[in-house]
This record gives sequence, structure tokens and C-alpha cells, in this order.
Amino acid sequence: MNTRILKAVFPIAGLGSRFLPATKASAKEMLPVVDKPLIQYAVEEAYEAGIRHMVFVTGRTKRSVEDHFDTAYELENELEQAGKTELLKIARGISPDDMVCSYVRQPRALGLGHAVLCAEHLVGQEPFAVLLADDLMVGQPSITAQMVQQFATLQASILAVQDVPLDQTNRYGIVSGTTLDAQLTQLSGIVEKPAPADAPSTLAVAGRYILMPRIFEELKTTPKGAGGEIQLTDAIAQLLSKEKVFAYRYHGTRYDCGSKLGFLQATVDLGEHHPQVGAEFSSWLAQRQS
Ligand code: UTP
Repeated sequence: MNTRILKAVFPIAGLGSRFLPATKASAKEMLPVVDKPLIQYAVEEAYEAGIRHMVFVTGRTKRSVEDHFDTAYELENELEQAGKTELLKIARGISPDDMVCSYVRQPRALGLGHAVLCAEHLVGQEPFAVLLADDLMVGQPSITAQMVQQFATLQASILAVQDVPLDQTNRYGIVSGTTLDAQLTQLSGIVEKPAPADAPSTLAVAGRYILMPRIFEELKTTPKGAGGEIQLTDAIAQLLSKEKVFAYRYHGTRYDCGSKLGFLQATVDLGEHHPQVGAEFSSWLAQRQS
């Protein structure tokens, strides 16, 4: 078995109902924060972590994601003819030559766990990363790079976690376990969206995972859980009884861009730091508040 993380799975087949009406006919993952679609932030994060094979689990309304990572001959030709080399570099940089993209369809939105299982034949018997693009994660190094680094020594499944306020546990997978150090916890349990009164801790799973291939076997026997969906959380709970799973407190910031509020927060924060418009945008914001 490979002991390095060479593949990343991007489940993007969800309905995006929290972001209606924008997501009725368009992919949530193509919503831009400043000038880049959410999915590109996630792919760049995986690439920075040394991953070169990107596996997208797509659904209806997601075709624009395939186009985004494909060559755009007409656009590139036009830009080349017009001598717009900077823009040409941006267009070509979306898919570096050494990056491979594969696509598989999830025919119905039966849950995140089911979406990951749809990627089994493309991943094979290797450990792999899972990135949920609607969680925009900002870190230096990238959150996935931090996790890949942890994996090099742990050689086991790792979930990115953060502390959340107690009244928000019902929005996340919540873990419990033995604290090993400031960053790592060895899991003894995980539950999906518990009410605050039932939550075993306030340590919540963010949308980044490194998973051992055994997860596929667990997913095949995972019954429908919360919301009638096959939950990745439930399969991880099964995995726990067979092999070690760790929670890793990442260094960085997470924006829940599947929600309108999180999306707006990301837009303002990343807008203020954008090399082209950041300074002007910040002074406009400051003026507005005064
Ligand atoms: P979410 O529940 O956050 O996304 O799933 P959603 O279903 O698209 O959005 P809402 O809740 O209706 O607003 C987390 C991730 O899992 C993917 C989503 O695309 C998202 O990246 N997912 C979810 C699938 O690929 N398939 C599914 O059946 C469910």
C-alpha cells in the first residue's frame, strides 16, 4: 500500500440548498470568493500538499467544474493574440501540466459517505485526502499540507478539527477521545450533529480528512443515518473499532461557504488581503464604518 497521499477526493454532488436560489441551476462550488471559485481554492490546497490526482464526485448542475479545469482553447487563443500574457498565465495556471483530474457521478445525493464511496474505483487501495470545497480553509502551510505532514508519521486516518461554541454542535460531526498533545487527539467516538446536551465535546470536524482505504469497506455497510443519508461520520465511527483514527487541530481559519454568512465573511476577509484590490477595498470598508 502507498504510504503517501497522492489522491484527493472532492465530493461536490450535494444540493447546496442552504444557498438557494443561487444553487438552483449552478454549482455551489463555482461561487467565486473575490475572483476564484471555491473549488479552485480547494484544488490549490491539495496541490500545495503535493497531491497531483484530483478526483471529483459530481452531480447534475456541476458540469461547469469540469469545464473550469479543462483547457479553454478559444479563450487562450484570444488572450494570446491580444498579448494578454498575465491573464493567459491565470487561465493556464488553473490546471498545471502535472495535475490529473478524474470525474465520477453520484447519481443521487444520498449523502457525503455515499459520495466518497462513488470514488472507490478511482482511489483504489490507497490512503487519500477528502476536501469539502464549501469549507474554505486558509492556513500557512495549507490545512491539507499540515495533515499530510501528520500522516507521514501517523499512517492512519486523520480528521481536521476545531473547537466550536457549545450551542453549535448540532451543525458538525463531533469527536471525543484521548488528548495526545496540543494538536492531536486519538478518537474513541464520533457523532453527527449532536444537540449541545448530547455532545461528547466541542471538537468539531471541518471539511478536511485523510482516510485509510478501509473506509470503503465500512461505507458499504453503513446504514442511512441523519437526514436519511449515508454519513461519512457513521462510517468513521465503524472504522474506529478496527483501526486508529486521529483528530488534528489545524492552524488556520475556516469559512463555511455553504452558508450565506460564512461566504460573506470569506469574501470580506479575502477581499481585504487580495493583492489587486485589497488596499482599496479595506479603505472603502473603513470609510463606510466611520
Ligand atoms: P453539505 O450538506 O454541506 O452540502 O455536504 P450540500 O448538501 O451541498 O448543501 P446543503 O446542506 O443542501 O446546503 C458537505 C459536502 O458533501 C457533498 C457536498 O457537495 C458538500 O461538498 N455531498 C453531500 C455530496 O457530494 N453528495 C451528497 O449526497 C451530499
